[in-house]
Amino acid sequence: MCGIVGYVGKRSCTDVLMNALSKLEYRGYDSAGIAVFENGKIRVEKSKGRLADLADKMEKTGRPEGHAGIGHTRWATHGEPSDKNSHPHSGADVTLVHNGIIENYKKLREFLINQGNTFTSETDTEVVAKLISYYYKGDPVEAIIAATKELQGSYALGIVFKDYVDTVFAVRCESPLIVGIGKDESYIASDVPAILNYTKDYYLLEPGEIAVLNPYGAKIYDHHYQCIEKELKTADWDMDAAEKQGYEHFMLKEIHEQPTAIKTTIMPRISDGLPNLEECGITYDKLLRYNKVFVVACGTAMHAGVVGKYVIEKLARVPVTVDIASEFRYRDPLVGEGDLVIIISQSGETADSLAALRLSKDRGADTLAIVNAKGSSIAREADMLIYTHAGPEIAVASTKAYMVQIAVMYLLAFEIALAKKVIDEDEGKRLIKELEAVPDVIQKILEEKPDTQFAASKLINTDSLLYIGRGLDYALSMEGSLKLKEISYIHSESYAAGELKHGTISLISDSMPVIAVVTQPDLALKTVSNIKEVKARGAYVILVCSDNIQVDEEAYDYKLTVPAVDSLLMPMTAVVPLQLIAYYTSVLRGNDVDKPRNLAKSVTVE
Ligand code: AGP
Repeated sequence: MCGIVGYVGKRSCTDVLMNALSKLEYRGYDSAGIAVFENGKIRVEKSKGRLADLADKMEKTGRPEGHAGIGHTRWATHGEPSDKNSHPHSGADVTLVHNGIIENYKKLREFLINQGNTFTSETDTEVVAKLISYYYKGDPVEAIIAATKELQGSYALGIVFKDYVDTVFAVRCESPLIVGIGKDESYIASDVPAILNYTKDYYLLEPGEIAVLNPYGAKIYDHHYQCIEKELKTADWDMDAAEKQGYEHFMLKEIHEQPTAIKTTIMPRISDGLPNLEECGITYDKLLRYNKVFVVACGTAMHAGVVGKYVIEKLARVPVTVDIASEFRYRDPLVGEGDLVIIISQSGETADSLAALRLSKDRGADTLAIVNAKGSSIAREADMLIYTHAGPEIAVASTKAYMVQIAVMYLLAFEIALAKKVIDEDEGKRLIKELEAVPDVIQKILEEKPDTQFAASKLINTDSLLYIGRGLDYALSMEGSLKLKEISYIHSESYAAGELKHGTISLISDSMPVIAVVTQPDLALKTVSNIKEVKARGAYVILVCSDNIQVDEEAYDYKLTVPAVDSLLMPMTAVVPLQLIAYYTSVLRGNDVDKPRNLAKSVTVE
């Protein structure tokens, strides 16, 4: 989604803004713009398209020269991607950039038109600029407080006032924003990687707080205009983590980071060979109280929840419901006291997942967040928290975050099963040993480089394909299918193999390839029968299977094998070839792998 940056200091503001915005490109955007104080006046430059288009435009007009300003990458919500809808937007005294959605913007727009304002864009953001101008009587913070009281929805704003040269203001509600602190300079940013080149120290702005940045530092006020002291945080990511380090794409780098990410995530949660989640607020006593478990998330994180469901139900015999967050929040779910709601989110800022968390808390359920981004809203608001330690995930297509999310779901499943005494300590220790061995198996798969490029070459000209599997293989197929469609732009669906005959098999022909996942020995024979049925109807079949399962050669056209681990853990290893197939299909089709069209990394609006 949109990215915000701002700078005040001695450096060239345009250079800093453009560099910081480039670090937010992964969030997804369709236009960009900056506003810089040049010779005491605010100069705005903006353009539809990529940052390179903005840079080209400024080559012609001359880059703004100054030491304070704000910048933005826009992911269109209100109004098409165009120069005029790009941020920054202005009112009489104010220019600003905005992340989020103002839900009551139409009413406010009418009010402002009646006050004599005219609008140049279709955005909700221009309404905010004009509203702050309306309230501005000489004190920017007062104007921001008065205007934001009227806003409904979500926002993070970077603001400059024409009377306050070389000063940047910021405020947030729902959409995240940080204030970076360097030596004689300060920054605002919607995400840590934007400023890692300059500083690792930052304040996390809370909803309603207002930051005032000038060349001497930053002051933060609450919404009563009281100056407040905040804890300065230090990012534990370094710039290397947010760079490609020789890989052609972030996605490929992140696939290769998976073994380390699993180790960093699980090792601190294992003691004496058993899971230990006490530090995350999870005890046997608590786990024994829950009769029902809900997993609520979006996209890939929701698919990690589906794997979790299979594993928790199988091992711990507790019923688990997996919900898409945008459905859960509006379906009046039967959730309440005695239930555990697990929210999974890489960014910790997904609007629907955050709303589902709040709804569950309101209804008396205990909430547990599994989150990658430190200090994010979901992480802060949940009753219990397990951080995944994947480091920054830059590619829009999630890979290593999914891997560590499922690693945590395994730890949790083992812990619930132990608490409920459905398994004994010996079995718990055996399972942990198996889990600890997985990173090396994945490393081996990556080193041996399965020929996923060949599989990808068979898919590049197809319009549509199916992923099939049973049980955990079906859970995994969901993720394989999403990965492929989001970056290759080829339509695909995942199907429970046994469900094909109930309608979908009519789609099968020689122009509909099938990727079949077979890693569960107890289900293999059943799935292989289904594979033969699609093969007999002309489908080109790519089989992804574990090396302990024999499949007749006539059942498939191309086979990718992964080493067998405990069957419960197979999604962790078998997902790797599926990720690579998606990656290479996207590369071969010449797509922008890391920044697929129309997608945003962090979906902070509904
Ligand atoms: C997957 O590759 C996507 N990036 C997307 O489905 C993502 O998992 C989803 O938007 C949820 O994001 P979150 O984990 O940050 O909540």
